[in-house]
Amino acid sequence: MTRSVLITGCSSGIGECAAHHLQARGFRVIASARREQDVTRLQQQGLAAVRLDLADEASIEEGVAQALALTGGELYGLFNNGAYGQPGAVEDLPTRALRQQFETNLFGTHHLIRQVLPVMLQAGSGRIIQNSSVLGLVAMAYRGAYNASKFALEGYTDTLRLELHGTGVQVSLIEPGPIETRFRANAREAFLRHIDPEQSRHRQGYRQTLARLQKPGPSSRYSLPAEACMPPLLHALDSRRPKTRYPVTRATLMMAWLRRLLSDRALDRLLLKAGG
Ligand SMILES: NC(=O)c1ccc[n+]([C@@H]2O[C@H](COP(=O)([O-])OP(=O)(O)OC[C@H]3O[C@@H](n4cnc5c(N)ncnc54)[C@H](OP(=O)(O)O)[C@@H]3O)[C@@H](O)[C@H]2O)c1
Repeated sequence: MTRSVLITGCSSGIGECAAHHLQARGFRVIASARREQDVTRLQQQGLAAVRLDLADEASIEEGVAQALALTGGELYGLFNNGAYGQPGAVEDLPTRALRQQFETNLFGTHHLIRQVLPVMLQAGSGRIIQNSSVLGLVAMAYRGAYNASKFALEGYTDTLRLELHGTGVQVSLIEPGPIETRFRANAREAFLRHIDPEQSRHRQGYRQTLARLQKPGPSSRYSLPAEACMPPLLHALDSRRPKTRYPVTRATLMMAWLRRLLSDRALDRLLLKAGG
């Protein structure tokens, strides 16, 4: 039987790559995006696509209803990929910016999981794959909102895995390091939307942040293309015993290891050098 997979955030990057990759491997993919023009573009590329905005509960419910109508009520996989980064020092973040960050990166994901879980539990099988981040494992300056949302996603997912034990529904985390996508361009927009760099005691650090966010080409020597996330995604969907965590890029492998090995202060020194 063809297995159906719903993916969020398919307008670009890892989500768009995953939609094409999984469809080419025989999955029935329902790609989703929050903007209508991206839904149309995905459909023109030969994908089944629905509109789904993670920051809007009604849109999530509507998107799931449309996805289930396309699959005949069945859903094997959910790839929770859609998210964005809200840069800015914690002290400069308006609370509404933090709320919006959680609305998309955590609460929307939660609402979506609650819509699809009954279908998976009824079938006695299913896969939920959460796109987390190396920044779900270690913190960096000016990433407080994003760090908080991805740390929360990690804890949420660990709990969910315990609660789904024995149901046939399996949960995995993918933890990418730097991946070349629209992520930095989108983070730059979020930064400029909510932070006034000139009014901050971090204005010097923010210059580096902006330079990093608009630098053409790879952001670091560990950067990989979105395709690097595909083998873990396929394994999480296909394997009889999916892993709980899939680190992607050497940056994540290193950080996961250093976090275990170093004291908080020693890790701080290293992460302060990695900088703005
Ligand atoms: N790139 C990296 O270095 C990196 C590293 C670690 C983890 N990740 C994670 O990888 C995932 C995909 O990011 P990416 O690198 O592929 O970046 P991307 O190219 O910016 O893609 C992010 C996707 O999320 C979507 N999105 C944002 N807000 C949304 C909302 N309210 N509802 C639905 N979709 C929404 C975006 O849609 P719009 O185009 O409409 O904004 C876009 O399709 C994210 O979870 C991110 O945290 C990325």
